[in-house]
Order: sequence, then structure tokens, then C-alpha cells
Amino acid sequence: MKLTTEEQDMLDGKYGNAVKKSMEILNTLGEIFDAEYMVDVQSVQIAGVSYANLDEAGLEFLSEMAEDGKVRVLTTLNPAGMDRENWQALGIDKEFAKNQNRAIDAFARMGIITTCSCTPYLIGNTPHYGQHIAWAESSAVCYSNSVIGARTNREGGPSALASALTGRTPKYGYHLDENRHGQVLVKVNASVKGTDEFGVLGKIIGDKLGELGKKIPYITGIPSATVEELKSFCASVATYGGTALFHMEGITPEYNEFPKPNDLVFEINQDALEKTRAELIDDDLEIDFVSIGCPHASIHEIAQLASLLEGKKVNKEFWITTARPTKKIADEAGYSKIIEDAGAKFAADTCCVVAPIKGRFKGIMVDSAKACYYGRAKNKFKVKIGTIEECVEEAIK
Ligand code: F3S
Repeated sequence: MKLTTEEQDMLDGKYGNAVKKSMEILNTLGEIFDAEYMVDVQSVQIAGVSYANLDEAGLEFLSEMAEDGKVRVLTTLNPAGMDRENWQALGIDKEFAKNQNRAIDAFARMGIITTCSCTPYLIGNTPHYGQHIAWAESSAVCYSNSVIGARTNREGGPSALASALTGRTPKYGYHLDENRHGQVLVKVNASVKGTDEFGVLGKIIGDKLGELGKKIPYITGIPSATVEELKSFCASVATYGGTALFHMEGITPEYNEFPKPNDLVFEINQDALEKTRAELIDDDLEIDFVSIGCPHASIHEIAQLASLLEGKKVNKEFWITTARPTKKIADEAGYSKIIEDAGAKFAADTCCVVAPIKGRFKGIMVDSAKACYYGRAKNKFKVKIGTIEECVEEAIK
């Protein structure tokens, strides 16, 4: 690694202990991945925020960094283990809440904006095309690289924090043009619509990339896609295929920047979509929990939910997981009152995967293929994927 004078001073401890530790982390990463230089980052997003992930060891590390560390760039957090205002109504225990708040306080002492969301790009932590950033949440990494055209590797919690405190990241991986080329041509010969179907498509492509040992698909045959469909697709393809970047012809900004791959071609038809959707519906299912907002719901999705729930009553636990700023817009627009009058609950700052709810429900219905994966793997729920409309129908049944 060739460090600038300022970076060397950081490493030598001239900017304090937290910056020194941070530069040690980044310098080591750079050496492991053969980076030649550091690059300035314009935005950071930190994951591993839930106390369930951090535990006392993680909290100790954060507290030490917070003694003299202050962020140099705009930094927000991934979802925490609870809604910071409404945790009691969501059944979170007091001890967990106390510890979660200790973690958030440590982040706040470093100047981090304690908005906890996996869709930072919807709430003002929004990079632009070509900017180098250091984000950690896999769906957001995939969205920022692919849909926005910003450049980030998938950071871990400590490396993202290190970038926040130094404003730097080692220039390797997705920061370099040569690592952003499509590797597999994916031809979609099917009509794909809605967050659920884009999630199913993400699973098909992710599973196939896993088999092929490739990471970057170049996708054709999708005439249009909304922000919500793309965020669902990103979450899914990142979950099932470890994908941090894709190109979608006519839709994502870099699709014609690099040569189109033609040697490895994979086609997807309507049958494949239907077969894969069926894999996301368990047998002997008893649904007692419905959750929308994986990744965090946009204001557009909340408006849609308000119109579907108006004048209805839900008969099952129903969470809408979103960022707190989005919830505030929903409050002002009158959507929250309609939704809460119907008996559904907002779970801001958190989600149905990171909240400590393992085993609390038997079956979950969602519109997200990612939530299906973690509902099964982490929380031991049976799962069913459906459209937002079908999720609401199930809740009011
Ligand atoms: Fe976000 Fe939680 Fe889904 S972090 S992408 S809502 S699993």
C-alpha cells in the first residue's frame, strides 16, 4: 500500500487511537487484496448494528472507538434489533432494549447519524454515479453498485466504521473498472412484475451464479423496473448469489460501459419463475405473521399499504418495516393512522430478520425472497411469498 502523508500520520497515531486502529484495519485489508492506494469515500453505511450480532465484545470495540473517534463522512446505520420508539409494542424485552440503546449511543458519540435502515439511498444517504463509498448491507451494496453506479465493496462492520472515521477505503474489488464487467449473460424470456417476482428472479439468478462460481450477471429482457422492484431484486440476488453488482440492459447506468458477456449464457422462462416461486412456499403452513418492508419499505409502498388496509382490520401480527424518516413522512401524509387503525404495526429502525423473534411465530408471509431465506434459516419460520396485495389479504382473512 502506498499511503499519503496524511494516511501515514493516521497510521502512526497522530489523529488519535480510533483513527490509528481504523487505518490499521484498512491498511491490512488493502494488503490482503493487493490494493495500491486508498481512495476517498463520500458515504458510509455500517451493518452489524443489532445487539444480537454485536454482543458485549462488539460493544466494547465500539465504546473504545467512540472515546476519540469522529466520522469524517456522512454515515448511517443498518437496521437495529428493535424499533427504538415502539419496541415494547413489538414484544422486545427490556434487557435487549437497554443493550441495543447502549450500542446506538456509542455510534452516536462518533457523529454517526443513527438512522437505522438498509435503504439509506431512500433517506438521504444517497451517493451518485461513480462515487466511491463504503457500505456494508448486502442489498444496499448491490443497489448502490448496480442501480446508482456508485462503487463499493461489501464491507464488514469494523471496516465500514474504519472508513467512516478516516474517510478512506483501499482501492480494490468493485472500486476498479476491471472488476465491474458482466460475467454471465442472463436472458429473461418472461414477464416479471412486482417486488415478489423480482425477488424470485433474484433467487433464480443468484442460485445459478452460485453454481457457475460467478458473481456479476448482465441481464437482458427486463423492459422496466421500479425502485421497489430493483431493491427487492438486489436483496434477493445478493442473498442467494452473493452478488454485489449486476447490469440490467436499458436500466442500470453502467450496462453499456463494459463489454457484454457472450460466452456464458443462461435463459430464464416463465416456467422457471413459477417453479422457483413454489420453492418459496412451504407445505403445512400456518401463517401467523405478515411482514412487508424487506428491504425497508419506501413511502410509495407504505401509501399502497394504506390504500389496501383502509377500513379493514388485520387478524395476524402485521409489521411494516421501514426507516424512521420514511415513517415520519407516512405520519404526515396520514398513511400511518390508516395503517395503525387497521391493527398493523410499524417496526421502524428494524426488520423481521434482525429483530430477536426466532421461534416466536409459526409461519411468515412476505413479498420478499430475502425475507423467505432468513425467515427459514435464522428465525425457523415456515414461509410464503406473495404480492403485497396477497400479503394484506392473508392478514385480514
Ligand atoms: Fe433490510 Fe432486514 Fe431485509 S436489513 S434487506 S429488511 S433482512
